[in-house]
Amino acid sequence: MNSEFPHDDIIHLNHAAVGPWPRRTVEAVEAFARENLHRGSRGYGRWLETIAATRELARQLIGAPAAEDVAFVKNTSEALSMVAFGLPWKAGQNIVIPAGEFPSNRVVWHAAAERFNLEVREVTVGEEPELDLLRACDGDTALLSTSAVRYDTGLRLDVQFLGNELHKRGVLFCVDAIQHLGALPFDAPGCQADFVMADAHKWMLAPEGIGLFYVDPQARDRLTLNEYGWHMLEHAGDFDNPSLAPSPTARRFEPGSPNMLGIHALHGSLSLLLETGMDRVDEEIREHWLHLEDRLRSLGCEILSPRQRRAGILTFRPSPDLLDGISLEEVYKRLQEAGVLCAMRGGGIRFSPHFYHATADLDRAVEHLSEILPGA
Ligand SMILES: Cc1ncc(COP(=O)(O)O)c(C=O)c1O
Repeated sequence: MNSEFPHDDIIHLNHAAVGPWPRRTVEAVEAFARENLHRGSRGYGRWLETIAATRELARQLIGAPAAEDVAFVKNTSEALSMVAFGLPWKAGQNIVIPAGEFPSNRVVWHAAAERFNLEVREVTVGEEPELDLLRACDGDTALLSTSAVRYDTGLRLDVQFLGNELHKRGVLFCVDAIQHLGALPFDAPGCQADFVMADAHKWMLAPEGIGLFYVDPQARDRLTLNEYGWHMLEHAGDFDNPSLAPSPTARRFEPGSPNMLGIHALHGSLSLLLETGMDRVDEEIREHWLHLEDRLRSLGCEILSPRQRRAGILTFRPSPDLLDGISLEEVYKRLQEAGVLCAMRGGGIRFSPHFYHATADLDRAVEHLSEILPGA
């Protein structure tokens, strides 16, 4: 058993929903709580150091040039909203998104379209998703927004190719990286991303309510601010300073007091991922994916996730023979009861393993599935 994840009676295959915390994150939260109990905020100076250290870890995960390019936000949706309601839109412009995105990456653009008189183009993508998206862009396209990895099928886009093509066309690129960061290496400047956002509670193994928002320094000034407070000012903390100038860094997107507890937790989780190394994390997840694919196919399940474009998500559907009259919902429910944490998405059952699993965990999950399926 992995000492960072001493799970009782569960096989956690649900990192694409809400991931578990590693031991060190739990210990960081406990220590922070105890410190508050006994010493109040006496150590605030050190807490600020933890913020700086966490921002540096976030920089490494995103591949940002500087820690100052990364803001802490509440969640992916908040950062998407900052982009949608911050850009200097011109009436008649359009925004391109893939059809069937997670609602967070749809609702903001439709809301902005209504407010600023824009068009949202939802593009059905096929075998070549990047080309399908690029074909939908024209001279009036201001921005393309996509998830780097689809929440339902786990389709991984070639964000490097897409970003470079968009850059040539002068179209801004916004990447919802919540299903990517923490599972795969990322290189924000390499994919010419203007905006990247991700909540930390999935593959980053941290609590809900703390997320990362990267803004390319060139794009930063283009975003009008809609949230204000003392903390986002250039001279934050110098309360007698009359200047109300926003910070030149991404801190301008952090209006008030930070989520100090969440940041302490995130520090623990990111330190584990980065000590492990994102290349190794990626490799382990890919091996788990292939192993599960093999076992599930042998059982007679149809794999709905694209093998050549896999990330951490493997969505599958048992054949009608295997189901033998029981519903997919029933299979899902019984998997939960057996302690196999997973989700129902994209017309199938979604497994999303992380790097720390042992192959035996995956085998046990498939054995549970096989016991549940009447036709197996
Ligand atoms: C692609 C994608 N975007 C966004 C979210 C959630 O956004 P938020 O961090 O605002 O809760 C999810 C959650 O499942 C998701 O899969």
